Amino acid sequence: MKSADGQEEEQWASRHGFLLAAIGSAAGLGNIWRFSYVAGQNGGASFLIIYLVCILFIGLPIVIAEISIGRNAQSDAVQAFHHARPDQPWYLAGGLAVIGCFFILGFYSVIAGWSLKYFISALTGHLSETQDNSTFFSLFIAQPVEPIFWQAIMMAATVAVVAGGIQKGIEAVNRFLMPILVLIVVILAAYSLTLDDAGLGLAFLFTPDWSAFTRPAVYIAAIGQAFFSLGIGMAIFLTYGAYLPKSHSIPGAAATIVAGDSLLAIVAGLAIFPAVFSFGLNPAQGPELAFITLPELFLLMPGGRWLAILFFGLLVGAALTSMFSILEVPVAYFIRKTGRSRSTVALALGLIIFLLGAPASLGYSVFDSATMGGRNILELYDYAISNLLLPLGGISTALFAGWGWTKAKALGASEFNDKLSGRLWLFCLRFIAPIFIAWAFIALSFF
Ligand code: PFF
Repeated sequence: MKSADGQEEEQWASRHGFLLAAIGSAAGLGNIWRFSYVAGQNGGASFLIIYLVCILFIGLPIVIAEISIGRNAQSDAVQAFHHARPDQPWYLAGGLAVIGCFFILGFYSVIAGWSLKYFISALTGHLSETQDNSTFFSLFIAQPVEPIFWQAIMMAATVAVVAGGIQKGIEAVNRFLMPILVLIVVILAAYSLTLDDAGLGLAFLFTPDWSAFTRPAVYIAAIGQAFFSLGIGMAIFLTYGAYLPKSHSIPGAAATIVAGDSLLAIVAGLAIFPAVFSFGLNPAQGPELAFITLPELFLLMPGGRWLAILFFGLLVGAALTSMFSILEVPVAYFIRKTGRSRSTVALALGLIIFLLGAPASLGYSVFDSATMGGRNILELYDYAISNLLLPLGGISTALFAGWGWTKAKALGASEFNDKLSGRLWLFCLRFIAPIFIAWAFIALSFF
């Protein structure tokens, strides 16, 4: 992709580097913090099955579409849609993604900040000295300054890496962090599986309750989680795909990314649910599962302080590798639009995004009376992002690649070697994804 001065062509150094960065982008707070509480609230195994089906028939086709659109144009979200179809206003879908990323990262950085606070508290031993974790959490969150401070640190780290560029910033840090994160989640799962009654957690995650399949709310939660966990519909893979050299096959790369993301969610589930059940705790507690229930568990376990360090270290690392990719979407657009340097743009946008996220953080203190339908500001962000913004972005991407682009161009850009899988891909984009997403939209108003 052209940089501000139009000279430097930024690209991933290798396919491996791209894959690591893309898996790092997909695997984030959504796979650990959000997956565990949404699966916990929606019955575990039945939810997991529907989630995986959504990933396969909606998520994977959209990831392939995004990478193809980006790689084909080698440009940012807005320009890429315009390049593919200059005669129709599809660039608006790119515009929606650029704006959407501001809000997503604003909200995301708040929870990333909480993770950092817990990580540091685990390191210094404060977390394990605490008797009651729900008090630890409420004391932390009920005062305005500290949560904002940690949010600012996470944003500053993100800006620093993105300012470093694709190869030297994003790719280099992902190459370093991703293997560590995989190792941590595997260690945590292995430990959790050795606990007494770990089988109860396994049964929760893998033995479906068939009656859950008749509950529309489970389908809505599963599709929302599939979108969040992959991070589709917001041109994130489009933007990363723009830095992919022409010679790399897209369907294979997309399948690797999607498999890596789902696997990480499942292994994180294997770390969390056996432990939760082993200690007789409730998996359906909602968003505070990772920040109240799990720290409580760590206190009860031998070596719990180390487990807490590993778990919150994992959350911080996974959040960071996702934050780079969310920031990169508007950064790529504004570098082209303003002609300013990558560092200036990253810094300016980082500041704006930080300010957008701050009210979500303050929703537990200064703005705690600001609620709508029982949701505080942060919960409203989460709801609007997962249930409205991402599906809207996803449906536009699917409709564009399925109908807006000509069939020949879509198949050419995605480089399916085999005709049948190319047709299946288009079928998912044309029918399955739009119909199911539209159904979820409508159903959401009724359930
Ligand atoms: N997919 C990542 C996660 O699961 O945390 C990051 C992400 C991107 C989350 C975009 C949400 C989102 F809208």
